[in-house]
Amino acid sequence: MQEMGTTLSSFIIDEQRKLGNKASGEFTGLLNDITIACKGIANLVNKGDLAGVLGVTESENSMGDVQKKMDLIANDLFIDALQNNGHCAGIASEELDEVLSLPEGKPRGHYLVTFDPLDGSSNMDINMDVGAIFSILKAPEDKENPTAEDFSRPGTEQIAAGYCLYGPSSMMVLTTGSGVNGFTLCTSIGEFILTHPNMKIPEETSEYAINASNQRFWEEPIRQYVADCVEGEEGPLGKRYNMRWVAAMVGEIHRILCRGGVFLYPIDDRNREAGGKLRLLYEGNPMAMIVEQAGGAASTGYERILEVAPNGDPHQRVPVIMGSKNEVEKIVAYHNK
Ligand code: AHG
Repeated sequence: MQEMGTTLSSFIIDEQRKLGNKASGEFTGLLNDITIACKGIANLVNKGDLAGVLGVTESENSMGDVQKKMDLIANDLFIDALQNNGHCAGIASEELDEVLSLPEGKPRGHYLVTFDPLDGSSNMDINMDVGAIFSILKAPEDKENPTAEDFSRPGTEQIAAGYCLYGPSSMMVLTTGSGVNGFTLCTSIGEFILTHPNMKIPEETSEYAINASNQRFWEEPIRQYVADCVEGEEGPLGKRYNMRWVAAMVGEIHRILCRGGVFLYPIDDRNREAGGKLRLLYEGNPMAMIVEQAGGAASTGYERILEVAPNGDPHQRVPVIMGSKNEVEKIVAYHNK
């Protein structure tokens, strides 16, 4: 008999069972809602111009980024999948200025969901990697409409995080706090199948990812680290480095989960006032949880990302240095010098 493999839903049900808890099925239902949104997005991303989803709109998000057509479509697909099934109590999206309350009369669940529905969306029009990133927190009890303050919690309080990479194949990578597992979308049956169990980031690496065109804006520790990487075998790091830049964090972190590396989006003179480029709630925290769960490390250069104190703004930004543990520690040491 031909076997289908372990589907994402059966994997989650099994994990819940192992916890031996009185799982109500709500968390499984919530992950299923997210999966449905991701499958819908994967389908459109895959069709590209045939589905008329390329190009920009006339609107901007709260950060002043011009929104692409697919940013808005992906955002709508996430909201639609999440607000109707009674598994979550509130939603925060990188594409929305404010946190979103569920419509009156809709059943409320016990979870808050934050997401970046289409990370790296400038890659859309050139047929390169894009992805979705999400994070799940416990909702406050007895609060019909959670506010921004309720989402303002350190990353250590996340109970699950994941991303869906829309690349040559679509992959969902997920942690619920006990390791990281990767599932590949089988388009013939429309299911994510477990293909990458227990993903681990190698501790050592000689591959880094940074937008080197920002060099003149960097702080000294980053400038020095990259200069030392470029010096290769003859420099103080004593080895030859390779560099990659996908321009979508999902793609960078996926590569790092598969073969190691470090990804850096540091604070610099252009983004200092904002606190960095990437968003703590939608990018920093979920990716830091995944990376740490896979044995890697995630730091701002000065502190663990998961311990960064939220300031109440759902669009708070954070400097990001994450990936192979020993390399991240080396970069942190440059900051402590
Ligand atoms: P967006 O989701 O707005 O397209 O942002 C992408 C982020 C991140 O995923 C990526 O690593 C970085 O921005 C790319 O930045 P550069 O524009 O500096 O290449």
